[in-house]
Amino acid sequence: MLIVYLSWTNNTKAIAEIIQKYVGGDLATVELQTPYPENYTQTVDQVAKENASGYLPLLKTKIADIEKYDVIFFGFPTLGHAAASSTRCTGTIHSGEDSQSKYRNRMEQRRI
Ligand SMILES: Cc1cc2nc3c(=O)[nH]c(=O)nc-3n(C[C@H](O)[C@H](O)[C@H](O)COP(=O)(O)O)c2cc1C
Repeated sequence: MLIVYLSWTNNTKAIAEIIQKYVGGDLATVELQTPYPENYTQTVDQVAKENASGYLPLLKTKIADIEKYDVIFFGFPTLGHAAASSTRCTGTIHSGEDSQSKYRNRMEQRRI
């Protein structure tokens, strides 16, 4: 089991850690190559623009062998009335081009 989370103010991180404590599994955080600003208003503005344009931020996080996980928990905050734009990039947490598209397809099938 894999528990992946994106967290700006650590609420989602806390929940992810609770899930791991009670359910087990591996924990991974989604890190952006360019983190969100520390300022609340700037972050809301940025996320709104990214969501409106469909921009997908580059992620620093890579998880090898993601196929080995049967169950993946994915936690993220609502930022600017929507899931943060970076949460649409989860296919890229996996290394390898073929596997990325495979994983993205699988996510779409399962509506994760
Ligand atoms: C920059 C920012 C924008 C937010 N925008 C919304 C929002 O539009 N709607 C909402 O219900 N909550 C919003 N929230 C609240 C967060 O979704 C909530 O605090 C969440 O628990 C934060 O998770 P995190 O600590 O893991 O980042 C926002 C929080 C932040 C910091």
